[in-house]
Amino acid sequence: MISVTREARLTPDQVDEVLALAAAAGNTDGAYPLSEHVVLQIKSGAPGWHAMVRDCGALAGYAHVDTGDPVDGPAAELVVHPGHRRHGHGRRLVDTAVAIAEEADPRGRLKLWAHGDHPSASALAIRLGFARYRSLWQMRRSLFAPIEAPILPEGVTIRAFEPGRDEDAWLRVNARAFVHHPEQGRLTRADLDLRMAEPWFSPAGFLLAERGGELLAYHWTKVHTDGKEPIGEVYVVGVDPDAQGLGLGKAVTLAGLRHLRDLGLSQTMLYVDEDNPNAVKLYEKLGFSRWTVDVGFQRITNT
Ligand SMILES: CC(C)(COP(=O)(O)OP(=O)(O)OC[C@H]1O[C@@H](n2cnc3c(N)ncnc32)[C@H](O)[C@@H]1OP(=O)(O)O)[C@@H](O)C(=O)NCCC(=O)NCCS
Repeated sequence: MISVTREARLTPDQVDEVLALAAAAGNTDGAYPLSEHVVLQIKSGAPGWHAMVRDCGALAGYAHVDTGDPVDGPAAELVVHPGHRRHGHGRRLVDTAVAIAEEADPRGRLKLWAHGDHPSASALAIRLGFARYRSLWQMRRSLFAPIEAPILPEGVTIRAFEPGRDEDAWLRVNARAFVHHPEQGRLTRADLDLRMAEPWFSPAGFLLAERGGELLAYHWTKVHTDGKEPIGEVYVVGVDPDAQGLGLGKAVTLAGLRHLRDLGLSQTMLYVDEDNPNAVKLYEKLGFSRWTVDVGFQRITNT
């Protein structure tokens, strides 16, 4: 007997069951199937949807659907127990996640994230009407290793972002720097305001490089405090196309790493698109190395 249920909150027993299932899959697949923030949401009972498939009472599959991001739309992660695969449970979970996404998002958007880039994840997602849209490397670097001093081109200075003053200039440079980027380049004032209202937002960690009052580049850092140990993130680095090639990308990245180290953090991470070899090369030179790969699939919709 197969049942599919969805819950807004899990009981402590259900939390244990889900974590045991995820651990079993992680051991078999060599990649833990859920991201850290999803595990934390499961444990803390934060708002989100939990879909569960049971086969004769035993938990066979689980999906977490996060509908809390109005900018990027709903996102889901799912996992089927290694002993229950190829019985249609993955499909049941995706169908449930799609139903939840359609209730939450007028455009019916849904992203699926798979950790570790397994062929079965791609096969399932593509079969069910999703397209691979992103392959993100997570790279990490210790902040205990030396961080070079940034070398700034003549006349360039770095200061912290000032809310109420720098938004328009930042949006302009961001759009120019990420003109070919699917999401980052299209950020609007409303998107920026949403991020600035987040508890992690800190103007002191949002560094702007300018010359004569003109914004040329920025490094927006972030601190994740929801894990066992806080970790810094190189959240976004952007350089205006007219100022590229001057070493500003490296300089603002180093300045941000120093800021994160000065906060007392021991580690930092970043996400970089696999198909951006120049950025990967820069980060490798700055001491980052590959930690994991996350693959994003996007639902193909008519809108
Ligand atoms: C990916 C995963 C969820 C699939 O779960 P599942 O219950 O085995 O999938 P289903 O039985 O519902 O398969 C549905 C369709 O996906 C495709 N598929 C799934 N696994 C496949 C595999 N190993 N090889 C080829 N096709 C596969 C098939 O087209 C299948 O339809 P079919 O059986 O009629 O041919 C499971 O392997 C898993 O938990 N992997 C680790 C976590 C993960 O990668 N999650 C992210 C998913 S996007």
